[in-house]
Amino acid sequence: MSDSYAPSAELTAQANGQADLFDQAEADFEGFWAAQARERITWSKDFDQTLDWSGAPFAKWFVGGELNASVNCVDRHVDAGNGERVAIHFEGEGGDTRTITYADLQREVAKTANALVELGVGTGDRVAIYLPMIPEAVFAMLACARLGAPHSVVFGGFSAEALHTRIADADARVVITADGQFRRGKPAPLKAAVDAAIDHGDDESPVEKVLVVQRTKGDVEWTEGRDVWWHELVERQADTHEAQAFDSEHPLFILYTSGTTGKPKGIFHTTGGYLTQAAYTNSVVHDLHPETDVYWCTADIGWVTGHSYIVYGPLANGATQVIYEGTPDTPHQGRWWEIVQKYGVSILYTAPTAIRTFMKWGDDIPASYDLSSLRVLGSVGEPINPEAWRWYREHIGGGSAPIVDTWWQTETGAIMISPLPGVTSLEPGSAQRPIPGISAEILDDEGKPFTEPEKVGYLVLTKPWPSMLRGIWGDEERYKETYWSRFGPKYYFAGDGAKYDEDGNIWLLGRVDDVMNVSGHRLSTAEIESALVSHPAVAEAAVVGANDETTGQAPVAFVILRGDAAQRAEEEGDALVQELRNHVGKEIGPIAKPRQVLVVPELPKTRSGKIMRRLLKDVAENREVGDVTTLADSSVMGQIQDGLKK
Ligand code: WT7
Repeated sequence: MSDSYAPSAELTAQANGQADLFDQAEADFEGFWAAQARERITWSKDFDQTLDWSGAPFAKWFVGGELNASVNCVDRHVDAGNGERVAIHFEGEGGDTRTITYADLQREVAKTANALVELGVGTGDRVAIYLPMIPEAVFAMLACARLGAPHSVVFGGFSAEALHTRIADADARVVITADGQFRRGKPAPLKAAVDAAIDHGDDESPVEKVLVVQRTKGDVEWTEGRDVWWHELVERQADTHEAQAFDSEHPLFILYTSGTTGKPKGIFHTTGGYLTQAAYTNSVVHDLHPETDVYWCTADIGWVTGHSYIVYGPLANGATQVIYEGTPDTPHQGRWWEIVQKYGVSILYTAPTAIRTFMKWGDDIPASYDLSSLRVLGSVGEPINPEAWRWYREHIGGGSAPIVDTWWQTETGAIMISPLPGVTSLEPGSAQRPIPGISAEILDDEGKPFTEPEKVGYLVLTKPWPSMLRGIWGDEERYKETYWSRFGPKYYFAGDGAKYDEDGNIWLLGRVDDVMNVSGHRLSTAEIESALVSHPAVAEAAVVGANDETTGQAPVAFVILRGDAAQRAEEEGDALVQELRNHVGKEIGPIAKPRQVLVVPELPKTRSGKIMRRLLKDVAENREVGDVTTLADSSVMGQIQDGLKK
């Protein structure tokens, strides 16, 4: 198309991902992935079968192979003579720093693994990790992987309630947390949420031990016999640990994500295939050259992006990376660019919502730093609008850095659709094509693939891939139902709308289910609705994801109040609305707080009682309301709008 951006000859010449990868993968799909697995990963025992799909949709990759993920991310780099290479440049929010080499990382991971063993963690036990963005989060994940104890990282911004549900679902015996975290220049408590999650009404918690990093030195409640300080237990451990190799299909982690019901799904990943695709994509998509690049992925460890592109992919590749603890505007709005300049960051991977925020803050802020070290930029989490894409290239990428817009999901484990920076002519706003080894199609309502441009359909993946989820923890049926039933067992249904353009590029058009994307994070309407109705003032609630200039989408809630609360709303309107927003924050986490709570007399429903969110979305986005003929009571939308005008 008219304004695509071809890679420079210089970039192409040195790129890890070359055009012939497409031909290789096309010619021999399994051979291609077997080669990636053997080239990028060190196996203690080689595999004898690349893919076993006989139990579809439950895949087995690199069957018979044995490896240890932690050894692949740490020890083998030290053994190869790269122990003095920096693995992590840690930058605390308050300006404290730590430089951690691969040799340091090996010692820290060994000590942490030994500590977990002392706490009784064995192979197969689940460990919950609820930590801020500090190096201990990486040590903890790699220590779990080392022991074959699947970790379940819970984002530090989630509430005690959300943590409780996730601990219970995974039946975690140990929780690793911190006393608190620094956010916007201030300490915020964290361990208190763990205490509340464990001491939760009548059901008995599976948690036996809580390992606590001292980060903010604030006051904490202490439960003797259960709670253990990291600096007391971990620091006195031996700094070597003999790792055992695990089966390629040994569980590596569980990560919860929102689905279309109120109950989050424990997306479950295994070892060999996941590590292979995480390392491969970090190499060919981010074009990581571990000897020379300084890589920075700004995600939190609590999301899949932090798992695949802070911990497993880059560390398997021996990268030098930056980890930053805090928010982008603490203590000033140039903080990120100061960090890029300070460490000479060459690859930056971030989310469109951050880019749009920086656009709002002004061009002059990044302009006052030296960003010339940046050579590859990445985007993830939601579609990046062409305007933000161009701003990113111009004001962060010096007008020349390629941007890889990477489409993938918690479920896919690693990047699936993306440009290769040395190969693809970039089309702003489009994730473009499946990467080598991945196959996608777009289906119509009848489930037929089509290729006509501009027609809107459903994105599906047509072949298994190494880092695919192996299921939903404890719920085989939900796995089959959610991903493999809509278009039959041949197609993985991603839940995203998509279309092709004239050139065959894929454009992702957002979720087609009741899931919204707020700042690149998935939230379900059902989860927020059930949080709202758990408040005594609320009789009924409907939530939609409305377009939002900064966050992509934002939750907007429509609530019907109970009789006595309706009275209260008349008297003190705003206070009640605030209370409801805060209640959602407390139940799920601040990220889920509705942007607006609109009190309405009725909700639009079909004759069968299904809420028509499409119409509420029209209201939330200030559009004329669409077709109301299928409503049980067609006057409802009029009542809602009249009420809101008051
Ligand atoms: C959903 C997955 C991938 C890690 C972070 C989010 C949306 C993600 C893109 C992109 C358009 C995107 C999709 C997807 N999404 N990346 N580059 N272009 N949409 O992981 O929470 O599992 O969410 O995020 O809707 O299904 P997640």
